[in-house]
Amino acid sequence: MDLRMRFFGGIGLTISAIYVVRWLVAALALGFPLFLAAQDGPGNPVKGDATALEKGRVLFRIHCASCHGIDGSGGRGPSLTTSSVREAKDKELFAIIRRGIPDSEMPSFWFKGQDIQAWQVIEALRSLSPTSEIPSAGNAESGKQAFVQAGCVTCHAVQGQGGRLGPDLTRVSRSRSVEHLRQSIRLASAELTTNYQTVTVKTLANQTVRGILLNEDAFTLQMMDTTERVLAFHRKDLQQARHDAASLMPDYPREALPDALLDDIVAFFFEIGSH
Ligand code: HEC
Ligand code: HEC
Repeated sequence: MDLRMRFFGGIGLTISAIYVVRWLVAALALGFPLFLAAQDGPGNPVKGDATALEKGRVLFRIHCASCHGIDGSGGRGPSLTTSSVREAKDKELFAIIRRGIPDSEMPSFWFKGQDIQAWQVIEALRSLSPTSEIPSAGNAESGKQAFVQAGCVTCHAVQGQGGRLGPDLTRVSRSRSVEHLRQSIRLASAELTTNYQTVTVKTLANQTVRGILLNEDAFTLQMMDTTERVLAFHRKDLQQARHDAASLMPDYPREALPDALLDDIVAFFFEIGSH
């Protein structure tokens, strides 16, 4: 007989086995950073050390500021001055920095295998001045309507509804700053979102098709055209296949989308992203 069986009894073992399985499933569902955080680990070994803080600030400027802003207020990455970061445990931040965030633009940092540098960066994160969590202007309810009326919804899904040509925007406020969101709507082509490469192909029959690249290799190319049809081509059937620098998304200058509506749409993103 199994030792634990004898010790806990049959039922005890079954329950604890179910518990372990549930825990694993939950841990996987929550993602790796939280999985790591669920394990016990030490706090920040350089807490309160002024030299470490200075070093951390330098590392932050080198490695993080390009996406999170020099003062941590965000950019292509989210603001790091919000309560979600302030309330995160040291070991959670450590896990994010070391592992990155899967399926996002947040990279992993190994700092040449030196944990101490990750801890120094965390010291720097802790020293950032808090800023407001929500955009200062805009009405989310009106933004919800504007999102439909301006046609955004034909390409973007929010909360399970809408098009697939562009990224799902339900949680976009968690990964970008207010200013970056405004900029990506006004000037869509300024910086393309990863995985949304615009592609134009010309077939041997002189047909031109534009869309989003799904996949390609030396012999084939798969794309989604502007009517959301998924198309697969053999390269030998194409005259040309070209990656475009421009986004498939049109620019929305003031004439197309007044400032007030832009603010409303951004407020709408923050409203739905906060749940
Ligand atoms: C290439 C851009 C980029 C760089 C460089 C980058 N980040 Fe990020 N970071 C992101 C993005 C994008 C997210 C949001 C990911 C998501 O959840 O979609 C993020 C998320 C985070 C989060 C989680 C924030 C939250 O509220 O959940 C932390 C913490 C973080 N980054 C810290 C750092 C630190 C520290 C550095 C430097 C060592 C760094 N990042 C460098 C892009 C970047
Ligand atoms: C013709 C399809 C199309 C329309 C219409 C469209 N978008 Fe986009 N959008 C895209 C595509 C494709 C991308 C990804 C490439 C890029 O970054 O420009 C994108 C990117 C974005 C991003 C950046 C997402 C990120 O993670 O940084 C935002 C924000 C956005 N769109 C908002 C809007 C809003 C608001 C509207 C309406 C005013 C709109 N879009 C209309 C196709 C569209």
